[in-house]
Amino acid sequence: MNDDTRSEMQHAPDFSIDERDAVYRAIFTRRDVRREFLPDPVPDEVLARVLMAAHHAPSVGFMQPWDFLVIRSPAVKRRVQALYRQANEEAAKMFEGERQAAYRRLKLEGIVEAPVNLCITCDRKRHGPVVVGRTHIKTMDVFSVVCAVQNLWLAARAEGLGVGWVSIFHESSLREALDIPHHIMPIAYLCVGYVSHFHERPELEKAGWLSRLPLEELLHFDGWEGCPDEGGEALRKAVREMTQGRD
Ligand SMILES: Cc1cc2nc3c(=O)[nH]c(=O)nc-3n(C[C@H](O)[C@H](O)[C@H](O)COP(=O)(O)O)c2cc1C
Repeated sequence: MNDDTRSEMQHAPDFSIDERDAVYRAIFTRRDVRREFLPDPVPDEVLARVLMAAHHAPSVGFMQPWDFLVIRSPAVKRRVQALYRQANEEAAKMFEGERQAAYRRLKLEGIVEAPVNLCITCDRKRHGPVVVGRTHIKTMDVFSVVCAVQNLWLAARAEGLGVGWVSIFHESSLREALDIPHHIMPIAYLCVGYVSHFHERPELEKAGWLSRLPLEELLHFDGWEGCPDEGGEALRKAVREMTQGRD
């Protein structure tokens, strides 16, 4: 028995193997969905569960800076989609030549098709100017909201719900369209609904836009320029083998 196996046995998790694997399955099969939404309504109990998952995310100083706008009105969705279209036209022009043509072929939202849209916001003033853990890096509140988004995204995957994050907006116009007060920052605009299927790989990867970076090349040891010691090399090897087993 090697040290790793001994350590794994000593620290046996309180998740069964099946439970642990279910968590990883949600992580690895989660996708950003834009095209595959079905019109079927999302029951309130299901929506409540994924919102509760979001609300149980970690947050700096337990600040819980989030609010959740639930959007089901077709008129509001169309208004938001018009804002997206305008911003997306501007976005397309930021790419040149063939890259611009490829960008224009991408579908980057499912606002109207998705039965539910959610706008998750950050109240930057919640609990006053001094919050535990946010005393020096003020963006920690925003990062907390992103943790809530990810919780929701994974819970949704386990419920069989697709989620697509749409970020191509002028922040001020989104705020105005949804009557969001000035001190509240819209962080994520999400399209949510049941789907015909989940893609196996990110759509941007399938479209040849970008591919997943090798994790082993993103590891640093004891500092940015540090050289891995024997343990570091062993970890790198474990990561490499795992990557080869995946895609
Ligand atoms: C902060 C953030 C903003 C995103 N904005 C958009 C967006 O505007 N439109 C879109 O189609 N996908 C958007 N995505 C989804 C990414 O393109 C997607 O996560 C990435 O390509 C990897 O694919 P996967 O989520 O299916 O694994 C966003 C994701 C994040 C985390």
